Amino acid sequence: MSLKTEILKLLKESDGYLSGQELCNRFGVSRTAVWKAIRQLGEEGYEIEAVRNKGYHFIGSCDIMTKTEIESCIKGKFGREVEYHEIIDSTNIRAKRLAEEGASSGTLVLADLQEAGRGRRGRTWVSPSGNNIFMSLILRPDILPSSASMITLVAALAVYDGIKNLTGLAAGIKWPNDIVANGKKLCGILTEMSAELEGIHYVVVGIGINVNMEEFPEEVRQTATSLFLETGEKVGRSRLVAAVMEAFEQYYEEFISQGDLSGLISVYNKNMVNAGKEVRVLDRSGDYIGKALGINEKGELLVEVEPGKVRRVISGEVSV
Ligand code: BTN
Repeated sequence: MSLKTEILKLLKESDGYLSGQELCNRFGVSRTAVWKAIRQLGEEGYEIEAVRNKGYHFIGSCDIMTKTEIESCIKGKFGREVEYHEIIDSTNIRAKRLAEEGASSGTLVLADLQEAGRGRRGRTWVSPSGNNIFMSLILRPDILPSSASMITLVAALAVYDGIKNLTGLAAGIKWPNDIVANGKKLCGILTEMSAELEGIHYVVVGIGINVNMEEFPEEVRQTATSLFLETGEKVGRSRLVAAVMEAFEQYYEEFISQGDLSGLISVYNKNMVNAGKEVRVLDRSGDYIGKALGINEKGELLVEVEPGKVRRVISGEVSV
């Protein structure tokens, strides 16, 4: 973590003032180095009050998304190492490249704008600048490749919780991994993996959250929404990234320790919008309709197609 990030983190955590001398002692640097870091933070948009004989005091920041800001918000191990881009083709593509080069588990790639944002099933993900979160988390789980798809459901739970903890909005999870509000999509997740039969090299969990968008392009207006449109409030994106990472750590550890989703079934089903509802399963061998009962320990959706007859949906899509 850079000196600037360390100082920012400390200022945010303290209620009162921190003197220049305290900061120098704490980080073992000169007065000039502290002053430089504070000046840079000011240039990046942080409001830091400097009072003679008292020191520095953090007042606030608007929606800043920089490596410094994100790292200063992160509390746990996921997202401690951040690579931030103003513009990128796709954070998933970049994260996969970094993983190939040996990046450690927990590394997070973020961008303000994606020129080639990728969605599931070969779709594109609309990724304009200034308002949204586009991020990809690198993981190196010691699990079988066949278990990797469950990580997507873990990520959905984490996004659900992060949003709820920060904004109070209780959105819903649409199986397997969309976050929706009032029937429209707030977040999509694209999980990609490199593996061989015996083991996983890495998993990249790509998460796109519509945060402060006030309007969507015509082609997705009927199907997409944002946290701003749902709550009427703008959200600090870096804080949301940190809230999602914090929730992810907790759920991921539960998943890894159990080896499946058995410890998360009830919380997932409680927050799943399709639970107890009629769904249409879009299946390769023909669509069918049934009542969604919830997930099992593998993350498969259980659909009651006729009384007492339950089908397991392993992958794919359902429409409500
Ligand atoms: C979906 O189709 O629902 C999944 C969308 C996933 C979008 C995110 S944005 C960050 C990451 N980078 C990408 O190119 N895609 C994912």
